[in-house]
Amino acid sequence: MKLLYEGKAKKIYNSDQSDQVIIEFKDDATAFNGLKKDSLDGKGKINLKFTRYFFDLLHSHGIKSHVVSFLDETTLKAKKVDIFQIELVVRNYAAGSICKRLGFEKGIKFSPPMVELFLKDDSLGDPLLCKSHLKYMNLIAEEDLLFIEKQALKINDILIECLDSKGITLVDYKLEFGKAQDGEILLADEISPDNCRFWVKGTMESLDKDVYREDKGDLVQSYGRLLEILGI
Ligand code: TMP
Repeated sequence: MKLLYEGKAKKIYNSDQSDQVIIEFKDDATAFNGLKKDSLDGKGKINLKFTRYFFDLLHSHGIKSHVVSFLDETTLKAKKVDIFQIELVVRNYAAGSICKRLGFEKGIKFSPPMVELFLKDDSLGDPLLCKSHLKYMNLIAEEDLLFIEKQALKINDILIECLDSKGITLVDYKLEFGKAQDGEILLADEISPDNCRFWVKGTMESLDKDVYREDKGDLVQSYGRLLEILGI
């Protein structure tokens, strides 16, 4: 397999079909735009398990993703998509950068959920995008943006229903979407505690990457606990 691209948490290889790629989940953990970095044994496997669980759940509710099939413990086959250079963050409760940037008190509920857009560009530190910026940047068509925002909120309802019944609060998460060769817009990347905040319901106890970002404990152990709670 030829390596096409290596990101912070994944490697992307070509596959035997020109419209598909193989994605490998790495054990690497990073935070603060890569300033903090470690390799944590088993993390790739665990995040693929979460991604399989959540993407299967979303598929069963009609949300289409780039996944073609799950291959083994660390790899999946996906449709080749052109990823929009936009990170879409949905927030149900205040945590992380929204508290630092705007002074919201941690744990405050956002109803309806807040949707933010960030430019997917590590060299610029993934800055926040205003809708007015988009007019001057050739990142996404207006109707495509409307579609992914709607999808992100549908995804929110599906995830909340599942997680709440298991005693987990979905605080916030980041999604990425891409356009397949036939023009269809598909959910891409992953859904795992790397790109979501999960709290034990009724508390602000993190079972997500904040454990690593804030040195609150052992990431693999916390992710393992969440796997157990969700029955994965
Ligand atoms: P933030 O509070 O740091 O803006 O993060 C919001 C959500 O997005 C949180 O669930 C973590 C996730 N996220 C990523 O997946 N990748 C990133 O690079 C950042 C900054 C956040």
